[in-house]
Amino acid sequence: MGSVRGLGKLVRPAAWTLNQRRDITSWLAQWFPKTPAKPVVALKTPIKVELVAGKTYRWCVCGRSKKQPFCDGSHFFKRTGLSPLKFKAQETRMVALCTCKATQKPPYCDGTHKSEQVQKAELGSPL
Ligand code: FES
Ligand code: FES
Repeated sequence: MGSVRGLGKLVRPAAWTLNQRRDITSWLAQWFPKTPAKPVVALKTPIKVELVAGKTYRWCVCGRSKKQPFCDGSHFFKRTGLSPLKFKAQETRMVALCTCKATQKPPYCDGTHKSEQVQKAELGSPL
């Protein structure tokens, strides 16, 4: 009998741990999806900003930020699985940062926003 009781003590915490693991796994899958969402077109023209030498910036990759062209945390709260692009300015200068999220030279605008695909896209939608 003593050994059965002992076994119960051993089994219950293990089952509890398994449930807890499932909860954590589904929570992680919800907040950090394996397949990231597509970036959406925030705007169709770049935003000019003055970068300050030595300062670190977080460019919005997902297109969902309300503080374009920079990240406001929406990528996380909207569970996109995307992350901002962190970069440090090497010099103080004016730059045009991409808001359409289709540039091939992130975070900088490379003119891709002028393409028919971007111009015909709906704001807030992926390409
Ligand atoms: Fe778009 Fe953070 S809000 S990357
Ligand atoms: Fe995206 Fe110009 S705004 S490439």
